[in-house]
Amino acid sequence: MIRVLGVSGSPHRHGNTERLLDAFLEGAREAGADTKKVVLSTLTYAPCRGCNACHRTGVCVVDDDATPLLEEMAHVDVLAVASPIYSMGITSELKGLIDRAQYLWARRMVTNTLDYPPEHLDRHRGVFLSTAGSDWPNVFDGAYPVAQALFSGLGFRYAANVVVNGLDAHGGRIQAHPTALADARAAGRREVASLLPR
Ligand SMILES: Cc1cc2nc3c(=O)[nH]c(=O)nc-3n(C[C@H](O)[C@H](O)[C@H](O)COP(=O)(O)O)c2cc1C
Repeated sequence: MIRVLGVSGSPHRHGNTERLLDAFLEGAREAGADTKKVVLSTLTYAPCRGCNACHRTGVCVVDDDATPLLEEMAHVDVLAVASPIYSMGITSELKGLIDRAQYLWARRMVTNTLDYPPEHLDRHRGVFLSTAGSDWPNVFDGAYPVAQALFSGLGFRYAANVVVNGLDAHGGRIQAHPTALADARAAGRREVASLLPR
C-alpha cells in the first residue's frame, strides 16, 4: 500500500491551500493509496534555537510535536507539503517546521550518519502545493528552494509542484478557479501511479 502524507502549512482552516491539498489526497486515494493529513496549526512546536547541538549529536534537543512529525514524514512514500504564499514566501508554520529538520541536515553533512542512495530517492516522492492571490508568474520562486531543502533533508526526490496563482481574480476562492482542484486531484493520482508496479 502506497502511503501518502499531506502536511498543510496554512493557518486558514479549509481555505484555498488546504482544499488544494485535500484534492491531491483525494486523487491519491482514487489511485489506491492510504492517505493522512496533518494541519500544522493544530500542533505545538517551537522554532529552531540554532543551538547547533544536532551538529555534534545528530539529535534535536527540543522535545515537542516537530520531531515526531518529521520522523513520520520521512517514512511515507509520497509527501505532499502545502503552504499559501504569505509575503512572497511560505507560512511561518511551515518554515518553522522545516528549520526544525536541521538535525537531518546535520546527520547528512556533519555527523555523516545519514545517506539517501538513489534507489531510496526513487521510492520517495515530494510534492509541493501552493496558492497565491496575485497572478505574478514568479510568485512561488521564493518557496521552491525551501521545499527543496525539506525534501532533501527527509530523503525525497522533489517530484512535482501543484501551484495556483491569481486567486484574487476568482474572488479569493479556489472553488471558483476553473481547473485548480481537478488538476490537484489528477496530480495525486499521477504521483501514486508512478510508484505502483507496472
Ligand atoms: C498574511 C498574508 C500574506 C499574503 N501575501 C501574499 C503575497 O505575498 N503574494 C500573493 O500573491 N498573495 C499573498 N497572499 C494571498 C494568499 O497567498 C492567498 O489568498 C492564498 O490563496 C491563501 O490561502 P489560504 O486560504 O490557505 O490561507 C497573502 C495572504 C495573507 C493572509
